[in-house]
Amino acid sequence: MVRPLVQFERVERTFGSVRALAPCDLSVQRGELVSIVGPSGCGKSTLLRLASNLDKPTGGRIRFATDSVGYVFQDPTLMPWRTVRGNAELLGRLAGMSRREARAAAEAALATVGLADFADHLPRQLSGGMRMRVSLARSLVINPEVFLFDEPFGALDEITRGRLNLVLLDLFAQRRFAGLFVTHSVEEAVFLSTRVVVMSARPGRIVAEFEVPFDLPRRLDLRYTPEFAQLAGKVATALEEAS
Ligand SMILES: Nc1ncnc2c1ncn2[C@@H]1O[C@H](COP(=O)(O)OP(=O)(O)O)[C@@H](O)[C@H]1O
Ligand SMILES: [Mg+2]
Repeated sequence: MVRPLVQFERVERTFGSVRALAPCDLSVQRGELVSIVGPSGCGKSTLLRLASNLDKPTGGRIRFATDSVGYVFQDPTLMPWRTVRGNAELLGRLAGMSRREARAAAEAALATVGLADFADHLPRQLSGGMRMRVSLARSLVINPEVFLFDEPFGALDEITRGRLNLVLLDLFAQRRFAGLFVTHSVEEAVFLSTRVVVMSARPGRIVAEFEVPFDLPRRLDLRYTPEFAQLAGKVATALEEAS
């Protein structure tokens, strides 16, 4: 049996009198990309912050088998005065890489997300989708074993989102990290992941889980197959019942 990289055991989180997360059991292994869907305010971001070890549970416990965690937010939070390369180098430097190592890692990561030609640009010179690629590259530099995504593509148009879904799936196929991906979109959840977890309205509980059987690599037209529609329908029904 493979040891999960992150394992939640009856994890709870309250903020004062607000119960954000009811006891949750969840584990993620290397080679799993688990999507989390649930109504707004149900504790998805809370769950991710706990999984990043930036926040601590108020009940239960979380076992970590690694401290190598990357986090991508909905807002790319780039430093406006630093170039794309400068932004991408940042986490490498913080993780103790030399200037030279961080630069090499940043350039490799930018090439991976298709931004090699934009290294000298400033964030404001890029589209929303490109800024999100920079944010992805910034985390890739440290090659995390656990990769957390909090609605990273939620603000993007559908075409851009589809492209970035493919970029992410490609990365996942190459690096086989353990991923948790929060999204509002049932379609995105099913397309991207190996398992979909549905949470209830606050206090968030896990009310359903679905294995996603589609092989990698996946193509965008998978979304138009009957098998895909059937699974997405099941997830959507569980989500409606949970809301
Ligand atoms: N730092 C905090 N202090 C107080 N309340 C919080 C804090 N973080 C989250 N909450 C509350 O916990 C609940 C779940 O929030 P969140 O995890 O952000 O939901 P989601 O990401 O699913 O929309 C919400 O009611 C929110 O207001
Ligand atoms: Mg959130």
